[in-house]
Amino acid sequence: MPHRRVLTGMRTTGPLHLGHYVGALKNWAEVQDQGYECFFLLADVQAMTTHADNPALLTASVKEVVLDWVSVGRDPTRPNVHFVLQSQVPERYELSVLLSMIAPFSRVMLNPTLKAELAKQAHPTLGFVCYPVDQTADIEMVSPLPREYGDELLVPVGEDQAPHLEDARDLVRRFNDRYNGQLMECRALIGEVGRLPGTDESGQKMSKSADNAIYLSDDAAMVVDKVRRMPIDPARKDGRHIPGNPDATPLFAYHRAFNPDKQKVADLEDRYRSATVGDAEVKRELARVLNEMLDPIRERRAQFEGIDFRSVLEPGTEVARAACRLVVEHVRERMHMTYPS
Ligand code: TRP
Repeated sequence: MPHRRVLTGMRTTGPLHLGHYVGALKNWAEVQDQGYECFFLLADVQAMTTHADNPALLTASVKEVVLDWVSVGRDPTRPNVHFVLQSQVPERYELSVLLSMIAPFSRVMLNPTLKAELAKQAHPTLGFVCYPVDQTADIEMVSPLPREYGDELLVPVGEDQAPHLEDARDLVRRFNDRYNGQLMECRALIGEVGRLPGTDESGQKMSKSADNAIYLSDDAAMVVDKVRRMPIDPARKDGRHIPGNPDATPLFAYHRAFNPDKQKVADLEDRYRSATVGDAEVKRELARVLNEMLDPIRERRAQFEGIDFRSVLEPGTEVARAACRLVVEHVRERMHMTYPS
């Protein structure tokens, strides 16, 4: 059986929500259950690219994200699963700086995800601008060297990360071409539901910053309340007797993403169009489905609440460090940064 390494991560800037769940965490379940060697990165350094002024939030978020991950079934007690705390892998910084020396500035600045994010910031930091290159170091720190450690390097991510992975592949190719290197190019695995709209009328994706999120840690009453406040098709504001458009409200995007009964969803959509279902019923059904999905997650969270974070993060971080040491050694040697006497 081929030995595949997987590296993926999340920024630790707050608790995780349903957007993370459909966009990423479900794909992570697959690679974990297929037995691939998985490195799940808590990107606390990358979190600083936007949240350096709030270290307390970052500390709290590391714990929250670990708890979110274990409550959805990512399992660091399995031998193939490593939780890695990014800031605790010092070798990774070295890799990042060395790779940045051959990353073309003009190419980094053309990255569409970076450009869109930069446009939203009044005073972006240099660290922020460099993050796609730094993320290449995240991925390549577990590049299989020697080759028996793996024959593929997979990166499950949401669609917005695709440009970063293209840049990462380009950077690796540059390194390999210029220095006769052996780094492995990564391959992106893009999730099915890339983007979940938020609970508000903005149409923007769900996010903490837009304050339109349902969290994995929300209790049942909170979910009912948030769903109740979700916008309906504005054309129907005068009542259920007016035919609606299922795409003019976020409600059906959620039904499609979370309701296991596809027949029921199709039926609700038909009835929405023909004005034979009220929004209250669509919402009630949605809240029920979400709470049914979240209940076992809540139970696992309660079980792990008192978990010792060090004991969860240390072993995985050590495995990543060992892998990264080999990669850094290789990169230093090929870039003539070893100075043998
Ligand atoms: N940038 C990713 C995000 O915001 C998080 C991340 C950090 C990541 N390092 C990574 C994803 C390495 C994949 C691989 O979602």
